[in-house]
Amino acid sequence: MTDNVRIDKFISENSEFTRSQTKELIKKGLVKSDGIIIKKSDFKINPDLNRIEVSGNTISYKKDIFILLNKPAGYVCSTDDPDNHTILELLPPELSGKVFPVGRLDKDSEGMIVLTNNGDFSHTILSPRKHIPKFYIVKLAEPFKIKYINLFREGLVLRNGEVCLPAEVRPLENNELWAFIRIEEGKYHQVKRMFASVGNHVDYLFRFCIGSLEIPSKLGIGDYMEIMHKDVEKLLQPPDFNVIFKNLYVHFSSYLINK
Ligand code: URA
Repeated sequence: MTDNVRIDKFISENSEFTRSQTKELIKKGLVKSDGIIIKKSDFKINPDLNRIEVSGNTISYKKDIFILLNKPAGYVCSTDDPDNHTILELLPPELSGKVFPVGRLDKDSEGMIVLTNNGDFSHTILSPRKHIPKFYIVKLAEPFKIKYINLFREGLVLRNGEVCLPAEVRPLENNELWAFIRIEEGKYHQVKRMFASVGNHVDYLFRFCIGSLEIPSKLGIGDYMEIMHKDVEKLLQPPDFNVIFKNLYVHFSSYLINK
């Protein structure tokens, strides 16, 4: 159930009226909740339960939807692709027609992808200026070299000359083919191109965290869940590295170890 919200906020977020226009309408006695005139802008309503009217017209609730999907390999992150299976096929019809993916993972990549119907939110998460960190676990073709740590930290130059923002990379303990990487931007095939620029190759890539929201280890590959406000906020918050690191090994041992 949606939390209670101020009536002026609800109207301005779900109609063409601005917040100040809404306040004026309220003062004029043109706003009703369940048929009762509301005279205070900070009056709290519940969008799922109360029927809000402005000048006799009902304001319909444009509910935001946020889905967390554990993407399997073999699906593309697109809403329409006649040649490939899209991740929308993994959602039930009542959801798949409403949402779109926030960013992309490659067809052969797996892990965390967020889908929403909220364009502003998608824009915020993807904005390079926001520096939202994304965390990946990769399996390399060649053993991890310690020199990668500094090279990635200094800002790698890709083979086509593009310069990357500083990134953090670490080997997984006791396993020289697996590594963990954090980047704060989203260039095309970025992680694969970063490892290619140091002479290695990514054989497998799994995204397990965006901001401070991790994919729950109980969410199997191909499964999805709806996420609520508290978790959506985490996508925009800086991560606690100790927690991320601890959970990295949980993800690894729960389904990546056999890859
Ligand atoms: N970087 C890549 O190279 N591929 C992905 O799918 C995501 C990040």
